[in-house]
Amino acid sequence: MHLISCATSSYPALPIRASPATNGVLSASRVSLPVTVDNTHSAIANPFVPEFFSGTHAITCALFALLRPGDELLAVAGAPYDTLEEVIGKRDSGGLGSLQDFGVKYREVPLAEDGGLDWNELKVSVKPGTKCALIQRSCGYSWRKSLSVNDIGRAIKLIKMQNPGCLVMVDNCYGEFVESIEPPMVGADLIAGSLIKNPGGTIAPCGGYVAGRRKWVEAAAARLSAPGLGVDCGSTPGDIMRAFFQGLFLSPQMVGEAIKGSFLIAEVLASKGYKVQPLPRIPRCDTVQAVQLQSRERLLAFCEAVQRSSPVSSYTKPVAGTTPGYASEVIFADGTFIDGSTSELSCDGPLREPFAVFCQGGTHWTQWGLVLGEVLKSL
Ligand SMILES: Cc1ncc(COP(=O)(O)O)c(C=O)c1O
Repeated sequence: MHLISCATSSYPALPIRASPATNGVLSASRVSLPVTVDNTHSAIANPFVPEFFSGTHAITCALFALLRPGDELLAVAGAPYDTLEEVIGKRDSGGLGSLQDFGVKYREVPLAEDGGLDWNELKVSVKPGTKCALIQRSCGYSWRKSLSVNDIGRAIKLIKMQNPGCLVMVDNCYGEFVESIEPPMVGADLIAGSLIKNPGGTIAPCGGYVAGRRKWVEAAAARLSAPGLGVDCGSTPGDIMRAFFQGLFLSPQMVGEAIKGSFLIAEVLASKGYKVQPLPRIPRCDTVQAVQLQSRERLLAFCEAVQRSSPVSSYTKPVAGTTPGYASEVIFADGTFIDGSTSELSCDGPLREPFAVFCQGGTHWTQWGLVLGEVLKSL
């Protein structure tokens, strides 16, 4: 299992108290979970902690760690995920402390027409004042291509060629373990994501992570708690660390199942005439499969059918509504054992054109086979 090397004494983990007597198994109740995807890459230190609420929270701590008043943040893969709009200040957060409230400037490089990175634009868009480039690996709620780690590496080279001092932060949500390399291995300074998505392996009950260069990981940890405290303090209730370790162990397997599910969704819905992203049978860069349903009614019907076929709360009907962080109404079907988990089989979508549903997760691809039967009956 070369992807996961946990808590070895030779590894420069961040705040870890692993005892040699327990062969690296954590001996204190308050620990972070250090994981490396490449122990030749310098200074990767990863706190996986329950105190991160979500991916948005971990990404926010990372951005606030990297940026200071007067700096510029450049989003290089078009508009970032919906919940980051208020974090950045693209959408008014009512003076609650967005990056813009703290004097951080913001620009975006729009995507190219094919939905991928605009390489020509990217070659000339990094300025001397650009302190941080944000790369969103997965599509989010946009009709766009998700990025391969190689493409992320190519973008990082272009960014650093223009301004070697520009830090690169990757929103890694839904990308973890889809490929055999991760963005820090191609030069990303910091990545962040959620543990109720891919790296929690469907069993982590909460939490998020940041990973990357030690200095920036420590800075993000200081944003989460307080400078000087990092993630050394705080409570870690019950057997959460067991779930984090086991979830991480299971994650590559669960991600594989989710990807097989995404192939099935793409194949079936494309054969019924729906536009799908990514297309059937092309290599995946994340665990998300988007399907354009073109009407509010069909989007609601799709999500209702998924909820009806789920193992938890199958008797409930999801309704579209206002959700903190989102400008659009959003509908979520997540009949999941972990509330809000999207590494378990789930789908959701914003109620806006082109009324696309975003499907993800699943502990076994055949679950999507059953669910799609119900979906097709209701479309
Ligand atoms: C690409 C991307 N980034 C960030 C987020 C936000 O993650 P969370 O819902 O855990 O806050 C999402 C959520 O779906 C996403 O798709």
